[in-house]
Order: sequence, then structure tokens, then C-alpha cells
Amino acid sequence: MQLSERSFNVVADVFHRVSGIRLVPAKRQLVIGRLQKLATEKGLSSLDEYVDKVIKAGDERELVRVVDRLTTNETYFFREPAHFEFLADMVARRRPGQEFRVWSAASSSGEEAYSIAMLLADKIGLSGWKIVGTDLSTAMVDAARKALYPMERARNTSPQYLKRFCMRGSGPYEGQLLVSKELRANVSFEQANLMQPLPDIGKFDVVFLRNVLIYFDADAKLDIVRRVSPLIKPGGYLFTGHSESLSNLPTGLTSVKPAVYART
Ligand SMILES: C[S@@+](CC[C@H](N)C(=O)[O-])C[C@H]1O[C@@H](n2cnc3c(N)ncnc32)[C@H](O)[C@@H]1O
Repeated sequence: MQLSERSFNVVADVFHRVSGIRLVPAKRQLVIGRLQKLATEKGLSSLDEYVDKVIKAGDERELVRVVDRLTTNETYFFREPAHFEFLADMVARRRPGQEFRVWSAASSSGEEAYSIAMLLADKIGLSGWKIVGTDLSTAMVDAARKALYPMERARNTSPQYLKRFCMRGSGPYEGQLLVSKELRANVSFEQANLMQPLPDIGKFDVVFLRNVLIYFDADAKLDIVRRVSPLIKPGGYLFTGHSESLSNLPTGLTSVKPAVYART
């Protein structure tokens, strides 16, 4: 399918308005690949028609589907392991008695949140901690709640954790894993857009804000970090992706290690 420059600009504007992410012209082919299924489902044979008849009409439900298709959701269990080592140290030093709370902000399909859950269950036990996962994409939030994954996504997970915290699928679920009910009980997911006022989800010992800031320009990145920071308890930490430095931005946080920032 083709997508004219004019239609591409319409899609890019809508996506930027909703998500804060700018689609550069070089992404035109990617947009075609991701949206053509939506056009076909509407019985339309061209993407320009889809843009004119559906996107421009502003149907909210369809816009959610467009945004879902255009976000990049790649993730896997125990991605960027240095953060999990840091977290394990933090947990060992924590003040007992207080619930340990972690926010996976941009949780995608939930692997990050459940990796944190495995570590906390191992170090603290099955209670005394809570994890909240949020993501812009409703499709990803639904997937995270299901907690069913291709085995391949757990390639960085220790065999001990797999055995303790996951069930191996069989029959129609062959090659998949389901995160255990005990872990799921302490992990919740909801839809939230980092570009909009943040939901009332309490304060956190650690916020994982990883592999999402990369999509925003410096102003949007700073704005997000400044609004997320007050949700970190004093003495708590913000983790970003290792390719997402905040070093040149006046965030008010203190850099303590690569991709680890403290709220002092
Ligand atoms: C590459 S995934 C990162 C997942 C996980 N944090 C990790 O590091 O593996 C990026 C996620 O950011 C989400 N996202 C993009 N823009 C967002 C926004 N404005 N608000 C909330 N989430 C957003 C996408 O839907 C996607 O699931």
C-alpha cells in the first residue's frame, strides 16, 4: 500500500498530539507496514483513504488502535540487568516495615514489571511490596494483565526464577510461559499517557522509566522527568534506559550510576 506525504503528515501529527512522539519522514515505510492491516479491516484498499475517512474523522476508538500500532513495544524479561543488581542492593538496605513500591512507567507488555516482581518475591517474600505498570497502549496493558509470554522473552531469566515464578505452557500453550498467580497478585497495570497529567498512583521507592524517553525531544523528556520525580520517595531512584542520558537536563535529580538517578 502507498501513503502520500500529505497523509503521512496527518498520521504523524495525530500520533505526536497523542503520544508526544515525533515520526520523522524516514518512518513512512514503517507507518505503512503497521497501518495497512487497519485499512484492510475497514474494507479500504488504500491508506490515503483510511487517513481521509477514518483518521481525519477523529473516531476515538480507531485512534487508540492507530496509536497502539505505531508505538514500539519491544521488551523482554530482565532487560538491562545492571538495574536489577542495583535494585537487589537497595532491597537489602531497605528500612523494614514499609511497603516497597515500584512503578514500571512505560511497561509495554509487562515483562519489566514481572521481572521486578520475581526479584522482590525472591528477596522480600510474596508480600510487603507492590508494582504498578502503566503504558500508553491499551493493547499492551491488556497483554500485561494476561501475563502469558513466548518462552523466548525469558532468555535472560534464571532457571531458578522460571521454576519458582512461572508455569510452562503445554498443549496449545507449548512454547509459552504464564507468570504465577502469586506474583500477579502484587502487580497491577493501567493505561496512562506520560504526556498528560499522571494518574494518582502513590509514591515509589523506584521508578523504571526505561526505553521510552528516547522517543521524545529534550523539552518533552525534561517535562516528563520533572512530573515523574515528585512520585519518587526522597532517597528513591529513577532508572532510565542505558541509551537515555539525562545528564544535560536540569531535572533536579542526582546521577549516581549510568542510567540511575537519585531523588535526594
Ligand atoms: C520499547 S517499550 C519499553 C518497555 C520497557 N520499559 C523496557 O525497557 O523494556 C516503550 C513503551 O513506551 C510506551 N509509550 C510510548 N509513548 C508513551 C507515552 N506518551 N506514555 C506512556 N507510554 C508510552 C509504548 O507504548 C511502549 O510500550
